[in-house]
Amino acid sequence: MSQSMSNRVRSKTVALSSARAALVFGVGLALSAAAQTPSAAPAAAPPSPASQAIAVRKAIYTLIGANFKPIGDALKGTATYDSAELVKRATRVAYFAGLVQEAFPDVSSSGDTKAKAEIWTNRTDFDKRLRDFQTHAQSLVQVAANEVPSSDAFKAAAGAVGQDCKGCHDNYRAK
Ligand code: HEC
Repeated sequence: MSQSMSNRVRSKTVALSSARAALVFGVGLALSAAAQTPSAAPAAAPPSPASQAIAVRKAIYTLIGANFKPIGDALKGTATYDSAELVKRATRVAYFAGLVQEAFPDVSSSGDTKAKAEIWTNRTDFDKRLRDFQTHAQSLVQVAANEVPSSDAFKAAAGAVGQDCKGCHDNYRAK
């Protein structure tokens, strides 16, 4: 490389890097100007992780309640449903019973909730109740598919799930 060519390359490099510096400086100015512009209205605070988790939990239980209702009515004999309807409902309850196991993260122990603090201090017992609930709901799907709603087998299987709801509410849900 000749002396003059290498000088030219060097001065091109210097020109490029000072252009980059100017660009960065300019962007920096623009950003700090933007940061100083007062916003028109304060943005609403985003929902906290606790309130989001509690909202999800309540939604899951609302769906569990709505889908268990026909099963409870069939059990009490206050309404009649065909087996296909009861299988559909039981399948949903079993599905949501699996989801609810993820609905009690530590962050959700306080806030607008009826979940008692004992859930987090008696976690072993609480988790066992959740597993039993799911197991019983899964058995109910099988029984509802194979036995008529008036059968003792259906009543026993639906009754076991109903006891899981009641047992857990009595211990872990505030009135
Ligand atoms: C292992 C414990 C457990 C089991 C099993 C359980 N629940 Fe619950 N349930 C809770 C707790 C805790 C809450 C309170 C949730 C909250 O306020 O954050 C709740 C809340 C609810 C709610 C109110 C939801 C809302 O919007 O506030 C309904 C409805 C409900 N449960 C129905 C049922 C039914 C029906 C069953 C059985 C098929 C059942 N649950 C089984 C613990 C349980």
